[in-house]
Amino acid sequence: MSPPAPRLVVPGRELLGPGDWPGVFGRSAPLVVEVGFGKDTFLLEQAAAHPERDHVGVERDPHRVETFLERAAAQDLGNVLAMPVSAELALGLCFGEASVSAVHVYFPDPWPKVRHARNRLVQPWFAREIRRVLAPGGVLHIATDDVPYRDQIIAVMGGGGFENLLDERWAAAAPHGHETAFERLWRRHGRDIHHMLYRARESVPTGSGG
Ligand SMILES: C[S@@+](CC[C@H](N)C(=O)[O-])C[C@H]1O[C@@H](n2cnc3c(N)ncnc32)[C@H](O)[C@@H]1O
Repeated sequence: MSPPAPRLVVPGRELLGPGDWPGVFGRSAPLVVEVGFGKDTFLLEQAAAHPERDHVGVERDPHRVETFLERAAAQDLGNVLAMPVSAELALGLCFGEASVSAVHVYFPDPWPKVRHARNRLVQPWFAREIRRVLAPGGVLHIATDDVPYRDQIIAVMGGGGFENLLDERWAAAAPHGHETAFERLWRRHGRDIHHMLYRARESVPTGSGG
């Protein structure tokens, strides 16, 4: 009998290198990543619905990670793990080139003050790392209620060589139908929601800076 998959993955401990995911999960399968899952259950539902895929949640708040792992254990999900680290570390160091089939980012912190906008996750470095880690045909699904951040996402991802797969520039609901905890909160407050779905264009953009 093989040992149970470790559910908490720390780079340099359970994960020895960016190409080590088959070793961690004990098999080779399409890899789905969510960044900043918070209190939401999207990735757990995906793991339950898609036993043929492996799922990695990245969340820097250790309390959220603990709750997430308790839920994964309660559901006996062997195809989902969590990394208690920042997106910067995870995307920069923990996934190999063309190794991820989808990245999900729902309601990243908006940092609404102009002087704090540089703290937002979606910056040119983020677009470069997403381009690097996505497998051919892989997608980034991202959503926000914050209009300035929505516009920043559109500018950064467009400048980073991504095309939007939605008919419009954004959709008011997720194509997969799941509403995250923050999405439900902001809908109750009457805010508009913006979902975007990106796939990398084939040619690498030049001069995207950042
Ligand atoms: C506004 S909450 C959204 C939670 C969830 N995605 C939802 O839609 O309900 C943002 C989450 O992202 C996490 N987070 C923010 N910046 C992060 C980063 N750089 N790396 C990893 N997690 C991050 C926060 O700890 C928080 O749990």
